[in-house]
Amino acid sequence: MANQTLNDLPTPALILDRAILRRNLKRMSDRLREAGVVLRPHLKTAKSVQVGRMAVEGHDGRITVSTLAEARYFAKGGFTDIFYAVGIVPAKLPAVAELRRQGINLRIVTDNIFVARAIAEAATNGDSFSVFIEIDSGGGRAGLPYPELPGLLDIARVLHAAPGVELAGVMTHAGHSYHENSVDGIAAVAEQERLAIVTAAEAIRAAGIPCPIVSGGSTPTAMHSRDFTGITEMRPGVYCFNDLDQEFIGSCGAGDLALSVLASVIGHYPHRNQVLIDAGALALSKDISAQEFQPKVGFGTIANAPARDMAVIACSQEHGFVSSDDPIPYGNLPVGSRVRVLPNHACITAAAYDRYYVVDSELDGGKSVVDVYDRINGW
Ligand SMILES: Cc1ncc(COP(=O)(O)O)c(C=O)c1O
Repeated sequence: MANQTLNDLPTPALILDRAILRRNLKRMSDRLREAGVVLRPHLKTAKSVQVGRMAVEGHDGRITVSTLAEARYFAKGGFTDIFYAVGIVPAKLPAVAELRRQGINLRIVTDNIFVARAIAEAATNGDSFSVFIEIDSGGGRAGLPYPELPGLLDIARVLHAAPGVELAGVMTHAGHSYHENSVDGIAAVAEQERLAIVTAAEAIRAAGIPCPIVSGGSTPTAMHSRDFTGITEMRPGVYCFNDLDQEFIGSCGAGDLALSVLASVIGHYPHRNQVLIDAGALALSKDISAQEFQPKVGFGTIANAPARDMAVIACSQEHGFVSSDDPIPYGNLPVGSRVRVLPNHACITAAAYDRYYVVDSELDGGKSVVDVYDRINGW
């Protein structure tokens, strides 16, 4: 790493701007602290202990993960309150129990009565579990659909009655906030998110069962919610880095994108007004979420090109096809020169890499590599 600049790195490479990362982390942390809500950052975006430690500063250290591999990695990194927020299956309970026996409060989630019974059964051998019930606040992915909340109290009673099992609380992920692109639209989804989990928690408490944690969270709703009453924690994740999708739905500004892919120009094709780069589908991902509100972003836009409207319009496995509405300035992009591609969806783009090359735009314009952070991939 000694004295490395972006020009020394192999391409494609994942570049993280620490100055922007710090700003993004601080903005969310301050916002939630002022609202009296604990931040449980979802580290499925960063998958990095270095970023995780920065993210929980000023909060109590609780985090969210999306795989058992992440749970083990962050436990090794010193985190002790970890919520594995993907529906649990009985076959994974021994792995959960093993981490819990090591002193990690690894919490799990279900929306299923059979799984709740399997957890109760697994605890009869002396293991303990801490379990959330998942609520569908309108996103239509996992969870008991609000407002009916079918079977909520049955699941709560099974978990509460089982020795060694704690009902941690209720949770939801307002994924439908990604289909809004106005502050008012996102705030309306945030209110649905709040009502769904607060109603579920109140119903459980009214049945005489404790429901300590009321957990919401997506980046857009954490950023634009106008009322957190009844919510105890939020789990935003992508806010650490932000991306083109977050920019276009209005969760962040154009200057808040901390992550980019460094790629080399590998060919000029003036007859079709294109250059090729060595970052294709594997290096960028084919996530097109950001195209919902801005079709011209393709698979990512070129950050440091003279015109910001230059985008990767097509990908094969290792080739990215870059074009623009304007004539490509080939003189500024000789073969071998480097460009930085801003991702549509930071979580998915980062998944192809095992490390972040960290730069700092406030130190030297982001030219030198100031650190390398690791990442955990896989399941
Ligand atoms: C369960 C859960 N919680 C929190 C989040 C974080 O939301 P975001 O990616 O909008 O930051 C996600 C993202 O998919 C999630 O699945």
